[in-house]
Amino acid sequence: MDTKAKIVEKKEWKEIAERILQRERCTVLTLGYIDTGKTSFLKFLSETIKNNGKKVSIIDCDVGQSNIGPPGCMGLLNNNGESLWYFVGDVFPYDHAKIITGLLELLSKTDSPYVLVDTTGLILGKGRSLKKAKIKVLKPDIIMAFQREDELEGILKDFSDYEIIRERVENIEFTSREKRREIRKKLWKKYLKNSKIKIFKGTKLRNTFLFSGKEIEKETIEKIIGNKVYWCEKIPEGYFIVADDYKMYEDMIILKKGFERGLIAGFIKDDICMGIGTVDGIDFERKEIYILTNFEKEFDFIEFGRIRINEDGEEIGRVYNLTY
Ligand SMILES: Nc1ncnc2c1ncn2[C@@H]1O[C@H](COP(=O)(O)OP(=O)(O)OP(=O)(O)O)[C@@H](O)[C@H]1O
Ligand SMILES: [Mg+2]
Repeated sequence: MDTKAKIVEKKEWKEIAERILQRERCTVLTLGYIDTGKTSFLKFLSETIKNNGKKVSIIDCDVGQSNIGPPGCMGLLNNNGESLWYFVGDVFPYDHAKIITGLLELLSKTDSPYVLVDTTGLILGKGRSLKKAKIKVLKPDIIMAFQREDELEGILKDFSDYEIIRERVENIEFTSREKRREIRKKLWKKYLKNSKIKIFKGTKLRNTFLFSGKEIEKETIEKIIGNKVYWCEKIPEGYFIVADDYKMYEDMIILKKGFERGLIAGFIKDDICMGIGTVDGIDFERKEIYILTNFEKEFDFIEFGRIRINEDGEEIGRVYNLTY
């Protein structure tokens, strides 16, 4: 774990750890708004469990302030040191179905009786239903609820039959959005270092409309939209088009050429993300994808993400409507 969370020791935390260690196995889920000490607590707890000679796995659902694996991925750190990633493709947990699937996938690969699950600080608005879904599927033995006031109670009231440990948060300053970006920038650079452009042709793509349909004449679409078209295919939703400019049409998904530059991509094998890269370009005629990556092993599919980053690790935008 190499981000802002430090080893913090609190008397109450020691007592909680001792209680947990009395059980033979235990699943712990952290809940809390941003900067409430969720990750610091889990760091402390995992160290304590290990120091007691027990096995512990940590699942990190935070795709923004990732502690295991690169940003844009959920991570599992097993007791045997193995680190597994699940590709989400954005630093915001926008796709709740994906986060829940990822949680179940990583959970199925844990190797320890103690499983600690860390989450993002998204607890308001739609974050409520995401957190509720996590509790439903994980069925944690203990919910660690970190609150400044009573901001979690709306979620917790539906889980009164669970063991909930409430922690009052005081004196923790908020990490600015800029600082969070800075932390991620370092992580992106770390995970993309020594990347070279590799060409992928005939590679299976998994979560995108691109190259999933039947190619059609570009001229037909050019006449309708009045712009140069680079790629066009018929898909069940209508048409998927890459063109010189973007316009709204009811049955057309149009992406402006150049959308792909810097887009994060994951190399997937058996549902696990084995490595990441960023798209340098796509030759639509030749169906070739150029990806900057240091990944060199075997994989089954490429998945595209939503976030775009430059070679310096700075986040430069998002791509909508390419993936589903
Ligand atoms: N109990 C505490 N008292 C004082 N400082 C703390 C405490 N717990 C954590 N901190 C510090 O507060 C900051 C935020 O902690 P941490 O990253 O663990 O929070 P988090 O809830 O995981 O945040 P995020 O929502 O970004 O994941 C860190 O710098 C950490 O060292
Ligand atoms: Mg955290």
